[in-house]
Amino acid sequence: MSDKKTYSPIGVFDSGYGGLTILKEIVKELPEHDFLYLGDNARAPYGSRSFEEVYDLTLECVKQLFDKGCHLVVLACNTASAKALRNIQQKDLPNIDPTRRVLGVIRPTTELAGNYTKTKHIGVLGTAGTVLSQSYPIEVSKFHPEIKVYQEACPLWVPIVESGKQNADDTDAEVKKHIDVLMSRSPKIDTIILGCTHYPLLINKIKKFVPEHVALITQGEIVAKGLKDYLQRHPEMDARCSKNSSIEFLTTGDANFFDENGGKFFGKEIRSKHLRL
Ligand code: DGL
Repeated sequence: MSDKKTYSPIGVFDSGYGGLTILKEIVKELPEHDFLYLGDNARAPYGSRSFEEVYDLTLECVKQLFDKGCHLVVLACNTASAKALRNIQQKDLPNIDPTRRVLGVIRPTTELAGNYTKTKHIGVLGTAGTVLSQSYPIEVSKFHPEIKVYQEACPLWVPIVESGKQNADDTDAEVKKHIDVLMSRSPKIDTIILGCTHYPLLINKIKKFVPEHVALITQGEIVAKGLKDYLQRHPEMDARCSKNSSIEFLTTGDANFFDENGGKFFGKEIRSKHLRL
């Protein structure tokens, strides 16, 4: 445990396990920083919840991370980034503490979208919430107006991952179904963004059904590099982040299940604590 007087980890939030795919890459870019991960597993999935629900739950979790010393929080969740980030940044932060920051995952991903596609036809797989919010088409059009975005919601994929069934045989048909629908929207799609941080946990299944010429974009490295760049551009924030190379994990769900399931994807043993909300 880090010295509590100076403990100011970077908070990383997700509805469940998905944010671990982001944290894993962030730690590679920023090995000296302290991190505090919070997975709201007890209330996942967020993808099928209303705008208000996602906003309320996300804000509650961000406040928890602030209370535990975080000055900077990354919403490592597309659904929360799509439905809660703007309100938290514009409405809540000025009242809570205008010097703290909350960042999302959609902007850094869409900024780089132009680097990957030659045909300018991109597919996005995401939760129903992310797809309905239209955040990807809107953000992509700001940076790359020439790119066409085709979306497909995959409402069962997060529950599959949350219940640890990502390698089960009967998951194949569910994964194939959505990839086929997405590809049928435009034969020119040459790039698919996995617009949900849970989906890299299904990457082996996804690769099985995506045509070989189509590039699959996961967000971990993109967000990690974006965060490193942000801290370089904001040295005042970097100075407020403590650096003892510690990583702590909180889950609103069952800590043993989180350790067992999440550890596989984080690539290292995880010892989480239960957080009661
Ligand atoms: N990892 C979250 C995302 O990126 C999943 C949201 C959910 O709980 O449905 O959207």
